[in-house]
Amino acid sequence: MSAIAGSRYREVYARAAADPEGFWMEAAGAVDWFEKPSRAFDPQAGIYGRWFPDGVTNTCHNALDRHVAAGRGDQAAILYDSPVTGQKRRITYGEMLADVKMLAGVLAELGVGKGDRVVIYMPMIPEAVAAMYATARLGAVHSVVFGGFASRELAARIEDARPKIVLTASCGIETNRLVAYKPLLDEALRLSGHKVGTCLVLQRPQLAAELVAGRDLDWAEAVADAASRGVAAECARVLATDPLYILYTSGTTGRPKGVVRDTGGHLVAPLWSMPNLYGIQPGEVFWTASDIGWVVGHTYIVYAPLFHGATSVLYEGKPVGTPDAGAFWRVCAEHGVVTLFTAPTALRAIRKEDPDGRLVREHDLSRFRALFLAGERADPDTVAWAEKTFEVPVIDHWWQTETGWPIAGNPLGLGRLPVKRGSPTVPMPGYVLETLDEGGKPLPPNQMGTLAIRLPLPPACLPTLYNDDERFRHTYLSTFPGYYTTSDAGYLDEDGYVYVMGRTDDVINVAGHRLSTGAMEEVLASHPAVAECAVIGVKDPLKGEVPAGFVVLKTGIGKAPQEVETELVGLVREKIGPVAAFKIAITVGRLPKTRSGKILRGTMKKLADGDSWTVPATVDDPAIFDEIAAALSSHGLPG
Ligand code: COA
Ligand code: AMP
Repeated sequence: MSAIAGSRYREVYARAAADPEGFWMEAAGAVDWFEKPSRAFDPQAGIYGRWFPDGVTNTCHNALDRHVAAGRGDQAAILYDSPVTGQKRRITYGEMLADVKMLAGVLAELGVGKGDRVVIYMPMIPEAVAAMYATARLGAVHSVVFGGFASRELAARIEDARPKIVLTASCGIETNRLVAYKPLLDEALRLSGHKVGTCLVLQRPQLAAELVAGRDLDWAEAVADAASRGVAAECARVLATDPLYILYTSGTTGRPKGVVRDTGGHLVAPLWSMPNLYGIQPGEVFWTASDIGWVVGHTYIVYAPLFHGATSVLYEGKPVGTPDAGAFWRVCAEHGVVTLFTAPTALRAIRKEDPDGRLVREHDLSRFRALFLAGERADPDTVAWAEKTFEVPVIDHWWQTETGWPIAGNPLGLGRLPVKRGSPTVPMPGYVLETLDEGGKPLPPNQMGTLAIRLPLPPACLPTLYNDDERFRHTYLSTFPGYYTTSDAGYLDEDGYVYVMGRTDDVINVAGHRLSTGAMEEVLASHPAVAECAVIGVKDPLKGEVPAGFVVLKTGIGKAPQEVETELVGLVREKIGPVAAFKIAITVGRLPKTRSGKILRGTMKKLADGDSWTVPATVDDPAIFDEIAAALSSHGLPG
């Protein structure tokens, strides 16, 4: 690791590896515990051990109460900036605490208590953040569902989490339309067999939602009533191993996986990351331009900045179109953002409209220190453009919903390591990362394999899947005994830098959004005209990848293929949601398969991406690829 001299990284990483107990107990010292844990890790507990097993604390206390008590009451906790509504709000720690106490009181009166699930289906507004904290305050478990998902996806999450209550708003605001949340929620509740007690509905001025008598309550009225009676809830005492939230993510099938985040580990590791990885001091302004519906938004919009006493920007807008490609720089300048964290796709969108950075230079970015990227591979070309345009370090870092905080990054707070474009740099303390071959044998440097993390996983990583230990074991731990498989392919180089090249499963990354091709195939297969189908991710200059569906139609369906293709595009939007960005459906006569019947998706992808490919030895009939190539070019793809 010669390339990393001058940084404390190596020493810190080695200490965490040699003495994880001591390292994480020391990191846990930054948390306010009601009862301090007597040990960092119990290897006998849980599936692969549990962190801080006897610690007692509360997430909301650590984000709000303790900072107000320590004199940060007047400091901004959240800077809400909403170009789509023209609204801006500076919400102090003191105000946030008062709002959360009251909302938690409302939830408690509605019967929410420790361990109860609360589904939050809301746009990027301060009330959504308050809802997450109010749930945490009671020791209840939230499950936030991203607004771009359709009713069926929301229903699947409700069905699995079985919430006592759902919090929602009348609408979200996209660049080109209002998204009416309430009809989507009503339909999801109809589809799911689970009956929720109450839906608390925030009416936004842009759209009024219809309330269902006996089930739905008006948020503003409920809060006003609680205020008039002085209702407020104090923090519940929560075990470090109790869940803070469930966040559903795409797997290989249509059934989403409920990633569980525990309370203690999620306080300790993300808190450690704020000064050490991001180089942020309390009081500074940190902006994660993501959505609270994703893990990035959970950890770095809502939680970690507030654990650390920093200020977090909550941005309800897009990188382009609200109103233009200068929006991010306007926000950075106006709020004194020191670190921005976003997805490479957002930068590509900005670069497309402002290639020479003219809009960047219109703003005072003197306080802007670093740009962090994640959610998909940061392509070297985009990184190079960003470095030149912003003249600050551009740091790619790699993580997953499952881990809750970065697996690898460039730790600015420990002293920046040299950047190698195309690599998210090095593993963070606690992650023992190896490249394994198919048989689970560790590979030497620079050889491509599956990236796997040796057990135990560090604090904040998932202890299990909600109500499904077996699926957790099967999905993550059984492929390589003693390891957690990331399902990402890649390699480590001779300096220990990691390169993450793509998924080994059916997950694709569309504009930084994680989606399951398996789930899309299930939807296509449900169309009465479809006999067989395969969905692959094809290269896209803006979104990284977009899904493309190949379908074989049943004989004698009496409809033109184009008509079915249009219906299929509509069906995926209706069943999964607009976020799937499913716009390409291609009818083919047959699908390329091995003699044993396995669809050759990998070769189809190479063809569609215009990459070099060879006819697989196992293919039934090589001429099929000419047919696929012809179908691709008739749809404007390389082929
Ligand atoms: N609620 C409802 N619909 C949503 C939504 C939400 N929260 N977010 C996205 N959608 C919709 C969009 O309106 C779009 O609908 P359309 O087909 O009617 O146009 C569709 O889902 C696809 O959205 P998206 O993939 O985001 O594409 P886009 O063309 O609207 O925007 C970018 C392109 C690059 C600007 C945008 O994808 C972006 O900002 N990406 C960053 C992603 C990110 O932060 N990821 C988090 C990981 S760090
Ligand atoms: P999500 O769970 O939505 O955060 O998506 C996680 C997946 O996104 C990872 O398994 C990777 O495939 C991909 N990913 C996230 N960050 C990076 C990165 N910096 N480089 C490469 N891939 C990434």
